[in-house]
Amino acid sequence: MSNVVSYEVVDKIGVITVDSPPVNALSQAVREGILNAVTTAQNDDSEAVVLLCAGRTFIAGADITEFGKPPLSPSLPEVIAAIESSNKLVVAAIHGTALGGGLETALACHYRCAVPSAKVGLPEVKLGILPGAGGTQRVPRIAGVKAALDMITAGNPVPAAAASDMGLIDEVLSGDDLKSAALTYAKDLVESGALLKRIRDISIDPASVEPGFFEQYRKKLARRARGQIAPDAIVTCVEAAVNKPIDEGLAVEREEFTKLISSPESKAMRHAFFAEREAAKIKGLPKDTPLRDINEVAIIGGGTMGGGIAMCFANVGIPVKLLEISDEALERGLGIIRKNYSITVKKGRMSEADMAKRLELISGTTSYDDLSSVDLVIEAVFENPDIKLEVFGKLDSVCKPGAILATNTSYQDVNLIAEATKRPQDVVGMHFFSPANVMKLLEVVRGDKTADDVLATVMKLGKKIGKVCALSRVCYGFIGNRMLQGYGRQAHRLLLDGATPAQVDAVAEKFGMAMGPLAVGDLAGLDVGYKARQARTDIKHDPRNHCVATALVEMDRLGQKSGAGYYKYDPETRARQSDPEVEALIKQKAAELGVEQREISDEEILDRLFFPLINEGARILEEGIAQRPGDIDIVYLYGYGFPVAKGGPMFYADQVGLQRVYDRICEFRDTLDADSWQPAPLLEKLAKEGKTFADWAQENA
Ligand code: 3HC
Ligand code: NAI
Repeated sequence: MSNVVSYEVVDKIGVITVDSPPVNALSQAVREGILNAVTTAQNDDSEAVVLLCAGRTFIAGADITEFGKPPLSPSLPEVIAAIESSNKLVVAAIHGTALGGGLETALACHYRCAVPSAKVGLPEVKLGILPGAGGTQRVPRIAGVKAALDMITAGNPVPAAAASDMGLIDEVLSGDDLKSAALTYAKDLVESGALLKRIRDISIDPASVEPGFFEQYRKKLARRARGQIAPDAIVTCVEAAVNKPIDEGLAVEREEFTKLISSPESKAMRHAFFAEREAAKIKGLPKDTPLRDINEVAIIGGGTMGGGIAMCFANVGIPVKLLEISDEALERGLGIIRKNYSITVKKGRMSEADMAKRLELISGTTSYDDLSSVDLVIEAVFENPDIKLEVFGKLDSVCKPGAILATNTSYQDVNLIAEATKRPQDVVGMHFFSPANVMKLLEVVRGDKTADDVLATVMKLGKKIGKVCALSRVCYGFIGNRMLQGYGRQAHRLLLDGATPAQVDAVAEKFGMAMGPLAVGDLAGLDVGYKARQARTDIKHDPRNHCVATALVEMDRLGQKSGAGYYKYDPETRARQSDPEVEALIKQKAAELGVEQREISDEEILDRLFFPLINEGARILEEGIAQRPGDIDIVYLYGYGFPVAKGGPMFYADQVGLQRVYDRICEFRDTLDADSWQPAPLLEKLAKEGKTFADWAQENA
C-alpha cells in the first residue's frame, strides 16, 4: 500500500497497520496511506476494519515537523471524515500513547479498544495550539463538557482504565497480543450486529450546561494559564460543540487552530518541544555508547536536596540508601521524606500502599561501609568545598570500581572534586533543583575527565526519574545559576535607580515568569545570598548590587520564612504586600551611595532583567559551557520558571532581534554601568552579521 501503511485482510477483518517510526506521527505519507486503505476496504470482502500501529505506540499525533510548512494533501480532517463515514465498522486498537491527531483519528473510528497500559490524550495545548481535527467537538460529545475541557486544557494523558470510564475507550483488552485481541474484538462486534457508532451523530443538550459555566471556566483558566492564548480558544471550541451542529463546530475549531498555529506562542512552544529532545543528546557521543547498570543508589546528606533526590529514585522503584552525619540528622531527613509522601497521599495523589512501597525502598545509614554495593552515589552535603572533598575521598575508598560518583553542588568546581578521588572519570555533576522531587530540570555537569559512558548513563537515568536533562561544562554556577547573577543584580539595581519591588516583580510576572526576582528572593530566603556573598571573599562585591538585600537580612527580614523581606507577608495566606519601610530603606541606600533616583519605565525593567540572561547565555555558548542555545532555553524553562510561551531566553532573544539586544546592552553600558553591561563577543558578532542564535546552532550542529 505504502511503505509506512500496510493493509491486509485477515479472517474477513481488514487490518490497517501504520509503521512509521519513531512514533507513527501523521506525516503526509501516513495520512495518504490510511486514506487509501480505508478506501480499499470499502469495496473488498472485509466485514470490519481494524486500525493499529507497529512499534512502540499508536499514532502520537500530527507530524510536528510539518507545522509552519505549506499544507500537503490529504489533510487530517479529510482522512478523519473518510474513516467516520466508512460503510464498515472501523475499530482503533491502541497501545502506547494515542495523542493529539492520533486520538482524534481513533475518535473518528466507530469503536476504540486499548491494551491496559495504553494512554490517550490531547496534548496540543502544550504546543500552544488546540486539537485541530475534531478533538474539541468529539470529546465533549462522549465524555461530557467539563471532563473534555479539563482534559484538553491540561493536555495530560489519561490511562486506559480512566479513559474507558470517560467513554473514550469502549473496550480494555486483555493479553499482550494487540493484533489478535483487536481482531477478536472486531469479530465480536460484527457478530453482535454492532451499529456504526459515529460520534458526530451525538448532540449535546445546551440546557445540560449550567448558565455561566463557560465564563467561570475561562476565569479559572486565565489564572492558571499565565498569558497563554490556547486555553481560552479551547473553551470557545467546546462552547461551539454545545451550541452548534458538528460541522459548524468543526469550522470554529479549524479557524481557532489556524490562528494559533501561526502564533508566536505556539512557535515558542514547538521550539521548546524539540529543544528538550535535542538537549538529551550529547554531541560527539555515539548513540550506542554502553550504559552502566544503576540498580542501587546512595545519597549523601538528607537535607533539603538529599531527601527530594532520594524520593526521585524511590518513585521509579530504585532502592536508595540515605547517609547522614548522625542518627539524629538521619531521622530528621527520613522524617521529612515521610511527611512529603503523606502530604501527597492526603491530597489523594498517591495510595497508602504506594507510599509504603516507596518508603520501603529508602533506607538510612550513618556508615560509609554500607555504600560498597551501590552503583551511583549523589553527594548533597553542605555547600562547603572542604566537606565535599572529604566526602569524595571517603567515597573513593569505599565504593566499588565503576560506581558513578556524582555531586549536587550548585557552585563548586566539579574538576577539583573529581581530583579528590583516584577515579575522576567516574565523577560527574548532577545538579537538581529545589524541591528536587518536583522540579523537572537536571543539569548534568561534565568534568574534564568524566567518561562518556558515565554521561550517557546519567542522561538516560535522568529521563527515567522524570527529569529533563541539559548538559553543562564546569564553570561557576554552571549554566543556570551563572546566568541568574546578572538578572538578580539588575533587579536590585533597578530598586536603587527608583523602581519599587512591586514594579520590578510585576514586569517579570507580566512577561510570564512564575514569580518576579525579588519575590523569589523572599521565597528562597535572603540569607542564602547573604551567606554566599560572605563566602566569596575572592571578589570585591559592589554594594550597589546587594546593599538593600544585605540591610534586610541584618534587620532579620529574611523573606517569607521570617514573615518579611522585600515584602510583608500575611501570616495566614502568605499573600505579599508592599512595605513602605522597605521603600524608605531603598531611598536611604540610594542616597548613601549617591544614586539619583528616577522614574523607571516598564520597558527598561524588562530589558534590564532579561538582556543580562541573554548576554551571559552568549558567553556560555561561546565558551562551550552549553552545547546549544536550545539547551540554555531548557535550563530556564524547567529550572527557573521562564514562560514556555516565550521559548526560553535565547529563543526570546532571536524573536526580539539580536541587533536590538546588542544595541540596548551598549546603551546600558554607556549610561548605567560599564562593568555589568559589556556585550558578549558572540552577541556582537551575530548582531553585526544579522544572524540569530538559531543560525549559530545550525552552523555548530
Ligand atoms: N511529530 C514529529 N516528531 C515527533 C512527534 C510528533 N508528533 N512526537 C515525537 N516525535 C519525535 C521526537 O522529536 C523524537 O525525535 P528524535 O528521536 O529525533 O529526538 C522522537 O519522536 C521520539 O520522541 P521522544 O523522545 O519524545 O520519545 P518518548 O518515547 O519519550 O515519548 C511521546 C513519546 C509520548 C509520543 C512523545 O514524543 C510526545 O509526547 N510526542 C508529542 C505528542 C504530541 O504533542 N502530539 C500532538 C501533536 S499536535 C497534533 O496532533 C495536532 C492535531 O490536533 C491536528
Ligand atoms: P542542607 O543544609 O539542607 O542539607 C545538607 C545535609 O547534609 C544536612 O542534613 C547535613 O546534616 C548533611 N551533611 C553535612 N555534612 C555531611 C557529611 N559529611 N556526611 C553526610 N551528611 C552530611 O543543604 P541543601 O540545601 O540540601 O544543599 C545540599 C547541596 O545541594 C549543596 O551543595 C547545595 O549547593 C546543593 N543545592 C541546593 C539547592 C537548594 O535550593 N537548597 C539547589 C541545588 C543544589
